[in-house]
Amino acid sequence: MKIKSRTKVKEALTTGKLDREITVKGWVRTRRGNKNIAFIALNDGSTINNIQIVADVPDFPEDLLRQVTTGASIAVTGVLAPSQGKGQNVEIRAQSIELYGAADPLIYPLQKKGHSLEFLREIAHLRPRTNTFGAILRLRHAMSYAIHKYFNDNGFYYLHTPIITGSDAEGAGEMFRVTTLDMTNPPKTPDGKIDFGKDFFGRETNLTVSGQLEGELGALALSEVYTFGPTFRAENSNTPRHLAEFWMIEPEMAFYDITDNMDLAEDFLKYIVVYVLEHCEDDLEFLNNMYDKELLQRLNQVISTDFVRTTYTEAIDILNSSGVKFEFPTHWGSDLQSEHERYIVEKHYKKPVMITDYPKKIKAFYMKQNDDGKTVRALDVLFPRIGEIVGGSQREEDLQKLENRISELNIPREELWWYLDTRRFGTAPHAGFGLGFERMMLFITGMSNIRDVIPFPRSPNNAAF
Ligand code: 4AD
Ligand code: MG
Repeated sequence: MKIKSRTKVKEALTTGKLDREITVKGWVRTRRGNKNIAFIALNDGSTINNIQIVADVPDFPEDLLRQVTTGASIAVTGVLAPSQGKGQNVEIRAQSIELYGAADPLIYPLQKKGHSLEFLREIAHLRPRTNTFGAILRLRHAMSYAIHKYFNDNGFYYLHTPIITGSDAEGAGEMFRVTTLDMTNPPKTPDGKIDFGKDFFGRETNLTVSGQLEGELGALALSEVYTFGPTFRAENSNTPRHLAEFWMIEPEMAFYDITDNMDLAEDFLKYIVVYVLEHCEDDLEFLNNMYDKELLQRLNQVISTDFVRTTYTEAIDILNSSGVKFEFPTHWGSDLQSEHERYIVEKHYKKPVMITDYPKKIKAFYMKQNDDGKTVRALDVLFPRIGEIVGGSQREEDLQKLENRISELNIPREELWWYLDTRRFGTAPHAGFGLGFERMMLFITGMSNIRDVIPFPRSPNNAAF
């Protein structure tokens, strides 16, 4: 479908026919020139590249051109012509200019000079108009599309799991409560506790931390499913890698064991990287030049290497014999912190690493228990610069073992009756994992703060916009 009244800038720059009259619409990035001629760089978000508009100043009302400043929205009709200037092949010789909305140069916050990423976070409502965020938002789109395409092409079904739930999928208790009760005067039970029986759902509810448990229900019927939705964690982690609201992709597959799970994770992650390398060249090149000179090299390295496959026990040995003094010392049983993950990936193996068989004590209740009684069939994928990008496991399909684990951890069993039913009726080996979309975005864009790869970040003390 093509809107007749407008040619997109990307199209004009790449496939536009010369010497034809076209109309482009967008936002002014810069205007320069003199009293005879004006050069306007116009961008409409279809590409990182601007189109140059050339206007003979005497041909236009003075009052109009005065308002064509950085940030203004205009429509330009003119002839597409080869450009004499450097930096572009074509330009538009303006015949008419219509001003949709001016942007007062005295107060418009996005002037042409480079702004810090910190400043841009404060104006997240306007930052999509910068080159950086235009590139990031186009990449977010391309990656989302690639993810759906990958699963669709491989016979997975997209399962929509609930956002509001009564369960704690990760058992970590880091949930945001959902309630319509009057918090200043909540109803009370006879023993003085808040009476959630009177709440909207007649029970306690929260925003989901993961769609996995419902994903498992889907997989144990449709064989291969995936979710792709927002997840919420009230962990008070003010780090460049944590958000309170982030998007997660969770494939869940019946009849997969941990090795199948690793094969899928590796193939899937490489597919996303290949897809953006093939489809988002301009944006990646921009980010490579502006932020991270090794970005393209790193992306190409990941797709051309086999991921390392090792165990938690091996990883601990590597860390213990590294001679490095970490902030958090390691011993068998301790969780791997970001500093440890990055040592293993960046210093030791120098490529992506998949670690399996973690101690059961530091992993969630649903993971398949190994025969050693100590470890579970967990899978974490660690990436350079990021650390953990994927978390997953083979699932415990044995009802008795799962029930034992649930009681050991004092998880209220009655809340999981429906989950346990899948183990009671036609249980089957199955596995899955979750990819943090914004962690993958960090890797793909080379940005260093997760707040810069999502349009409107939510983090402790910050829910603006
Ligand atoms: O390792 P996690 O907690 O695993 C799960 O939630 C499983 N239920 C997934 C599954 O097996 N279906 O989270 C998965 C991934 C992490 O590896 C990380 O990339 C990302 O989600 N993640 C976060 N991303 C941004 N901000 C946070 N606070 C995140 N917490 C986890
Ligand atoms: Mg994890």
